[in-house]
Amino acid sequence: MPEHSYLGLASAMHRLTELVIRAAMSELSFPSLSGRASCGLDAACGNGDHSIWLAQALLPEGQVTGLDICREGLLQARKASAKAGLADKLAYIQGDLHSLPFRDRAFDWAWCADCLWPGPKSQGFLGMDPMPVLEELVRVVRPGGLIAILFWSSQRLLPGHPYLEARLNATRAACYPFQEGGSFLDHILSAPVWLHQAGLEKIRGQTFVADLHTAVDGQAGDDLAACFQMLWGRAMPELSEADKAQFERLCHKSSPDFIANRPGYYGFITYTLFFGLVTSRPR
Ligand SMILES: C[S@@+](CC[C@H](N)C(=O)[O-])C[C@H]1O[C@@H](n2cnc3c(N)ncnc32)[C@H](O)[C@@H]1O
Repeated sequence: MPEHSYLGLASAMHRLTELVIRAAMSELSFPSLSGRASCGLDAACGNGDHSIWLAQALLPEGQVTGLDICREGLLQARKASAKAGLADKLAYIQGDLHSLPFRDRAFDWAWCADCLWPGPKSQGFLGMDPMPVLEELVRVVRPGGLIAILFWSSQRLLPGHPYLEARLNATRAACYPFQEGGSFLDHILSAPVWLHQAGLEKIRGQTFVADLHTAVDGQAGDDLAACFQMLWGRAMPELSEADKAQFERLCHKSSPDFIANRPGYYGFITYTLFFGLVTSRPR
């Protein structure tokens, strides 16, 4: 997800994906990391929703520090943590992932969601090489501690229209920031290779599914309309006139045929979590 559009869309996307992201967090079983309350880093915490969910996943004494470069996101995060009654468990700090303002081994774990997409810095990404940021995360997590990185990895959102959905997903805009002909290492599913290069052990990848039923959740229709725009709105110049018309008909909230208004609508989004342990051997 490109950074410049993030804050405007974060709440809608988090409403759609809260359950699946909490499920991914619970897979990590933070409390068992050391058998004691842990302290962790939400690296690129954005609007702070994940930091709150992380704090809630920890033992009562656990602490989470959210770091982001964006002041506006941090303001929202501080307000949200106070509203959630978690201000004493959460601290927020402005900083750059390339040069984390923490001592070595300061944390038991680090979480980094939807941020390490290899992409150009000029367009709000961290750069094509994820290794400098991963090496910073390894530096600030203690030996034996855990590093987890999470990515939105796929979706099936247009039931009954698999060809249109496939053509939308095949556009450069939908594959962005991955470029056709790019190295496989520039793709998020190569994250296990990055974690291996960063020296982590016991590396695993696991995919979690967000099930979307608009009949069950009325708000989900509005959120899906925002999601369709985020995923495919910029793909229009790459589509035929017929596909554009079909996209307008099915994916715009104001259309009488808006797909999420169909009784029984079902779609899904997947999130893939990659994680590993910082080696206990001397670095
Ligand atoms: C797509 S958002 C993801 C935010 C959050 N992890 C989430 O999933 O909701 C990417 C975040 O990375 C932050 N970011 C981009 N470059 C950064 C940098 N160099 N240092 C710290 N944060 C950065 C942006 O401000 C933005 O909040």
